[in-house]
Amino acid sequence: MKRWILVLLAAMMTMLQTGAFAESDDEIRNYTRYTDYTPQAVEPVGLIPGEDHRILVVWFSRVGNTMFDPDVDVVSSATLNRGEGGELVGNAQMIAGWIAEETKADVFQIQTAYTYPSDYYQTVQVGEGQDIDFVDLTLATHLEDVSGYDTVWLVAPIWHYTVCTPLRAFLEETDLSGKTVYVVTTHCGSRFADSVEKIQLMQPNATVIRDVTVSGYNPGGAENEVREFVQSTMK
Ligand SMILES: Cc1cc2nc3c(=O)[nH]c(=O)nc-3n(C[C@H](O)[C@H](O)[C@H](O)COP(=O)(O)O)c2cc1C
Repeated sequence: MKRWILVLLAAMMTMLQTGAFAESDDEIRNYTRYTDYTPQAVEPVGLIPGEDHRILVVWFSRVGNTMFDPDVDVVSSATLNRGEGGELVGNAQMIAGWIAEETKADVFQIQTAYTYPSDYYQTVQVGEGQDIDFVDLTLATHLEDVSGYDTVWLVAPIWHYTVCTPLRAFLEETDLSGKTVYVVTTHCGSRFADSVEKIQLMQPNATVIRDVTVSGYNPGGAENEVREFVQSTMK
């Protein structure tokens, strides 16, 4: 038998013994136990450096964590927009883009290990189930070192009347002690819900500030308000 086949077999045996396959199956069940679909592994983007490395913009959207059907309906989903090139843009993603333009900050996109469903209502089932079960979600990307940042903007949708599970996962593995943390939410009625209080509880040594909240039905209408708030924090 060729040596490379032996090496491959040995690697597979090790994975079986260490439970690496079982772990990814368990992680996939964190999505599929709530609705029937096939999650895909997410392609990680990682940190995008800006010009000011003391400020970090962190965002989470369905976009970047979903394999959308090509004919997805951006109008009735209330969470999707089209960019200038026709690409899909999430609400939190759009807001984070304005903040990044104003601050020139580094930008980090929270990404989950596996994709959410293309269908909005199935995603609601998964997102709400993960919150109710307090699922310990694995992320696809991690920030190794946040010590250089003094200001962090957190931009994310409200899910199930609270902090969405991917943002909770990020806050569980990232220590923002000593930093000023601006919370920006997007929603379809719940505004901030309990997110500011929850983030402060999770990050007791950070100064957590309630910033602006943007309706998912008309995110573009909040652009000036968001940009003006960001500018006011930099005076
Ligand atoms: C899983 C899930 C749960 C949601 N739960 C709520 C909620 O409890 N309250 C609310 O106002 N909006 C809720 N929404 C709506 C989103 O907060 C809103 O559409 C947001 O603008 C989406 O931002 P995004 O495009 O960046 O993902 C939910 C959406 C999803 C997908």
